[in-house]
Amino acid sequence: MKLFDVYPLFAIEPVRAEGSWIWDKAGTKYLDLYGGHAVISIGHSHPAFVKAITDQLHKISFYSNSVENPLQRKLADKLGELSGYPDYQLFLCNSGAEANENALKLASFATGRKKILAFRKAFHGRTSGAVAATDNPKIVSPFNAGHQIEFLPLNDQAALQSALTPEVAAVIIEGIQGVGGIQVPNDSFLQWVASACRKNNSLLILDEIQSGYGRTGKFFAHQYAGIRPDLITIAKGMGNGFPVGGVLIHPDIKSWHGMLGTTFGGSYLACAASLAVLEVLEKESLIANAAQLGSAWIQRLKSFAGILDVRGRGLMIGFDLPVNHTNLRSNLLEVHKIFTGEAKPNTIRLLPSLAITAGEGNLFFDALTRELA
Ligand SMILES: Cc1ncc(COP(=O)(O)O)c(C=O)c1O
Repeated sequence: MKLFDVYPLFAIEPVRAEGSWIWDKAGTKYLDLYGGHAVISIGHSHPAFVKAITDQLHKISFYSNSVENPLQRKLADKLGELSGYPDYQLFLCNSGAEANENALKLASFATGRKKILAFRKAFHGRTSGAVAATDNPKIVSPFNAGHQIEFLPLNDQAALQSALTPEVAAVIIEGIQGVGGIQVPNDSFLQWVASACRKNNSLLILDEIQSGYGRTGKFFAHQYAGIRPDLITIAKGMGNGFPVGGVLIHPDIKSWHGMLGTTFGGSYLACAASLAVLEVLEKESLIANAAQLGSAWIQRLKSFAGILDVRGRGLMIGFDLPVNHTNLRSNLLEVHKIFTGEAKPNTIRLLPSLAITAGEGNLFFDALTRELA
């Protein structure tokens, strides 16, 4: 059987990874500033993470959501404590798209409405509602196109004001747009959206799948604006590579048995992995590291004459290149052995592990200096 060919691949075969480093099968060592698309939060193969999953695997790896699983409660408690949402409720699932799909459903259940407002350049995943709320017609099939979604320009209060009609169930917005090229919503815009949603009895869904879990230097990116959304979606950094996602749900949203469900979500292994991530984030002060290193990197990037625009917060950084440097990403990989991310057409994205060090960062800046000289 052939693989369904949907991914353009680099000719690199990683076989081992540790911290911010990856080794391929030829023994070549790469610095990872991409984190497998913002997934590696505490560093590859962190010993506490490996131990937690291994220990759990020896006890019980899976049963079902029809029996008591105290690890789910432990995870919810720890997540509530570290994120500043101890009064919220947690629904566990397996991926980012699934988290958003469930959040969209919850908003519709809670309001009895169907319409969703989303933003230009948004990416929310590939399940039915999540992809319909994603601003990329190429990945929206005719089957997905039946949802009532309206896309608005980011940071445009007037556009949102006129679109926020009584039919709107929810506004969905990324803490910082990732796939869209690291576009940051203004704090004042987020504050206004939160209060406008409240007045309209619409719910606010914050997609923190890429920007959450400390990546921006706060647990959630929206916490820079001091708002409290109705629903917050998480995945990526939550499991440091173990597939897990979730929705943080405002205490006013009531559940009923059967309202949501999943076979795999919240398995013992997923909980063990997610708990290990939270414990390491806390013990090693990785959110503070993301804040400090991230600000220093942003300042340093701004000092390069060859770079057009630098955006982001913490270790979620994007910068634009002039047209004559569109090969920078491939040069960083092929010549300097550094993985970075991109956003079309000309943005480089940096999404390293939150445990990356200043010294590792210097290797990137040395390479950048040579490339942009
Ligand atoms: C902001 C955001 N939301 C949702 C998703 C979808 O997550 P997943 O690929 O786990 O379904 C992504 C993935 O890139 C994302 O960046």
